Amino acid sequence: MSFAAISDAVHVRAPGKINVFLGVGARHDDGYHALATVFQAVSLYEDVIAHHADDFSLTVSGVDDPDSVPLDDRNLAMRAAKLLASATDYAGGVALRIRKSVPVAGGMGGGSADAAAALVACDALWGTGLSPARLHELAARLGADVPFALHGGTAVGTGRGDQLNPALARGRFDWVLVTSDAGLSTPVVYQRLDALRAEEGALADDPPVSLDVPIPVLQALRSGDPALLAESLHNDLQAAAVHEQPDLAQTIRDGIDAGALAGIVSGSGPTVALLCDGPESAQDVQSALRLAGRDPLHVHGAVAGARIMS
Ligand code: C5P
Repeated sequence: MSFAAISDAVHVRAPGKINVFLGVGARHDDGYHALATVFQAVSLYEDVIAHHADDFSLTVSGVDDPDSVPLDDRNLAMRAAKLLASATDYAGGVALRIRKSVPVAGGMGGGSADAAAALVACDALWGTGLSPARLHELAARLGADVPFALHGGTAVGTGRGDQLNPALARGRFDWVLVTSDAGLSTPVVYQRLDALRAEEGALADDPPVSLDVPIPVLQALRSGDPALLAESLHNDLQAAAVHEQPDLAQTIRDGIDAGALAGIVSGSGPTVALLCDGPESAQDVQSALRLAGRDPLHVHGAVAGARIMS
């Protein structure tokens, strides 16, 4: 393997995601739940810039609360850089700069996007030249959502969410995102789902008997028709996220009152994703929610996965 460095600095951009469908099955012994999900990458990006350095270091900008993102080995981007170095016997380090736009602990895979971007950036900076399959394998070791942030587009995820197959999706889907001031911990939301399921009758339809992405979800994506997709948006984690932050149910209702076709908690939340009937409708929904005192974002999907910008 060659370690010829190709540049002094590499800038990689990776997208956040929405789970347009998220079916959660049983919890396995490793603590992870079986998933059947459909990810869509959306136009809200994390930027990671990697510079040559002897050691490993990290700075983060774009967050309101600097304490919300760890700068040590708890940070997934830092772990990604070190994993790549050890997997390729690279002896040096890297200085990573992360500019965040995806909400922290928002259920949109921001930390996973950082990790995917760091893998791609260090691979290019160090000239380690890993194949896409090998990068995917390292990504899956870092976290269940990291492979999708590499992949982007629209994809079906099974296993822990890390086994990906591209889904055919036509056209563009417009989403208005409503973020929350307080984040939600992904493990806490999964634990809450297990607890709700254990309380007999608390969630009548769970756990699912068969763990598949329903055909209508895939048909709606293929049709490119947001009204069809709106009918099949589903998230098994939603009840658990709403249990942790009851205001989320009202946020979804407010979005629909403002003209969205449907709303869903994104991943483990608390970001709410409102599907709209096109760009103009999304702008109307955004304006109406702004008037109501919220700070919504208009994004679209599907967009590409982690990409080298320079
Ligand atoms: O892999 P990731 O860091 O995204 O997962 C965070 C946590 O979310 C896991 O430690 C686990 O508690 C929960 N999780 C899960 N089942 C999955 C994915 C995540 O229980 N398929």
